[in-house]
Amino acid sequence: MLLPRSPVTAFAARRSALLARLDGPALLAAGQPQARNFRNNSHPFRASSHFLYLLGAAIPGAALLFAHGEAQLFAPAPEPDDALWHGVQPSFSELQATHALAAVRPLEELQDAVRDAGGTVATLPTEDAASSAWLSSVLARRVLPGTGHAIAEGTPDHALALAMIALRVRHDAAAVTQLRAAAEASAQAHIAGMRATRGAKHEFEIAAAMIGELRRHHLDDAYSPIVTVHGEVLHNRGHDNAVAAGDLLLADVGGETPEGWAADITRVWPVSGTFSPTQRAIYEAVLAAQEAAIARVTKGTRYRDIHATAGRTLVSALRDLGIFKGDVDGLVERGAAAIFFPHGVGHLLGLDVHDLEDLGDRAAYAPGRVRPARFGDRYLRLDLDLEPGMAVTIEPGFYQVPAILADASITGAVGADLDRDVLARYADVRGIRIEDDVLCTDGAPEVLTRAAPKSIAAIEAAMASQ
Ligand code: GLY
Ligand code: MN
Ligand code: MN
Repeated sequence: MLLPRSPVTAFAARRSALLARLDGPALLAAGQPQARNFRNNSHPFRASSHFLYLLGAAIPGAALLFAHGEAQLFAPAPEPDDALWHGVQPSFSELQATHALAAVRPLEELQDAVRDAGGTVATLPTEDAASSAWLSSVLARRVLPGTGHAIAEGTPDHALALAMIALRVRHDAAAVTQLRAAAEASAQAHIAGMRATRGAKHEFEIAAAMIGELRRHHLDDAYSPIVTVHGEVLHNRGHDNAVAAGDLLLADVGGETPEGWAADITRVWPVSGTFSPTQRAIYEAVLAAQEAAIARVTKGTRYRDIHATAGRTLVSALRDLGIFKGDVDGLVERGAAAIFFPHGVGHLLGLDVHDLEDLGDRAAYAPGRVRPARFGDRYLRLDLDLEPGMAVTIEPGFYQVPAILADASITGAVGADLDRDVLARYADVRGIRIEDDVLCTDGAPEVLTRAAPKSIAAIEAAMASQ
């Protein structure tokens, strides 16, 4: 599959839309490249998502200045020895034509342009200290590194953050095309992982097959791949463990297109190729929760209610298995869901896997809404009323986390209605999460990641095929 490229007109339209929303000038930087041990041995460069949204190309050190009704790109001038080390770089006039920009100018002219921009130049903070230091020096004011929580209300930076959120929270047609492509290719990586599991001795062999498949489709990692037989460690980063028949393998792997658009998929499969009866029972419980939640990704639905649907469906299925006793409403009331499903049901997805979280909770929590205080619910990253064009993940799970099961402050309210003897029969299920990417539309939800096998029958068939 050849990845689609967004038309240059899509980026020009986004820049015009931003200009129309701004009251004053703004600077959006690609970010500084990061060196390992010396300048030319650099980490792979990943431009800021706001910059990618507006230009579609990652130019290290470049920045877009929005002022006087137009967008100008300031970029490092090609160096004389680029032709030798990096290949001939596009000239400024080539960049201007390729990206339909008003002007492309050398970085050295940026400071003067900032001074002449006609007011305080707004910008957005970054997690990366080198990029923040660069912004501070160009804008002649302190731009602190850190998440968007640092943006003070009522400042030009705050207005810029709100303008970017307004543009990026609902995806335009070019973005949806990118998200579909990332999702389809990432689904292929999961099929490759399922196939590579037969005969694998370690997690890293399966991870390699999945990452290799992403690269074969020209995708980079959208986040650090999680490929582990210890799925109960929610963001398990290493791939060192041996895998054995009887284990479940959890793979949370997604790629991003060269324009930066992400996929985020989790699948779980049995190392042996066949789910045990106990694994099957819990998998079906999580799948029921996930499908009930996906069905609610519809226009106008409050995302927090989708989280509640997933939790309630899971509790009900675990009650049917005898792990919980008593009435479902009472169990839910007492926080039963979070004992096994201690995180939120998902988040916004776009150019970043947790899209717009660099701006804190501003994008994902509607004004007046705050994170719930209760354990589990407080990790809910999103609480908007869904609108067509929003993409979200739906990712409930079931985890036996020893620290949670031993914590009376979490399990106490459920008490003896958690039947630990029944639970002990499910010891071969440490962690299950099932995660899809879902686009809210005017009609039925569009599951972008539907090509990744999900039913038990589909997973066992994929693992058996070569
Ligand atoms: N891959 C990280 C997450 O699912 O949120
Ligand atoms: Mn996710
Ligand atoms: Mn994920």
